[in-house]
Amino acid sequence: PPVQVLVFGAALRAGSLNARLASLTARLIAQAGAEVDIGRMHDFDMPLYDGDVEAAEGPPHGALALRDRIQRCDAFVISSPEYNGSVPGLLKNAIDWVSRITPQPFKTKHALLVSASPSLVGGNRGLWALRVPLEHLGTRVYPDMFSLARAYEAFTEDGQLAQPDLQQRLADTVSAFVHFVEADVRYVCLRRR
Ligand code: FNR
Repeated sequence: PPVQVLVFGAALRAGSLNARLASLTARLIAQAGAEVDIGRMHDFDMPLYDGDVEAAEGPPHGALALRDRIQRCDAFVISSPEYNGSVPGLLKNAIDWVSRITPQPFKTKHALLVSASPSLVGGNRGLWALRVPLEHLGTRVYPDMFSLARAYEAFTEDGQLAQPDLQQRLADTVSAFVHFVEADVRYVCLRRR
């Protein structure tokens, strides 16, 4: 069976560049032979983490929804903006809530991190910061990452990247990631027999 990959953009606004990059990445993942589940940050709406709320009510619906979607996949892709050189609070808050659910789903999953930004740097520092909580939780974060700079000018009308070399680089990164996940999933299945 094909490997399952959850893809979501980590921003709420309707015109999100990261939602566009998530859509393109999802298309490329499907082309690489994996089954894609496309998430939206709105599916994972949740309040700020509060230990009192957790003690009284348990984790919120949005956190349970994100946990279930991660649990069901072999790998996930996050397209995240960079806020002030780091992880957006919204995404960190979601990771924090989900990490409190037992069993937490991040452990042993593979992850590919991508970002889109209007800046010349392309949000790469934010992805390095995002590695820290994910690796802390046991996620196998893929060494290669993809940061799209000048993202307002980067997309064609049909959602591809206008620059062929960038489109190729994203497609190559995604396909290498999918094949790596496939090989690992197969290896783990063989080992468990
Ligand atoms: C930003 N932005 C930004 N961009 C960047 O490349 N490096 C940065 O450090 C920051 N910092 C930052 C902080 C805050 C609070 C906001 C709201 C924005 C700009 C950001 O990349 C831009 O708004 C993107 O368009 C956000 O991603 P979406 O919403 O288009 O997916």
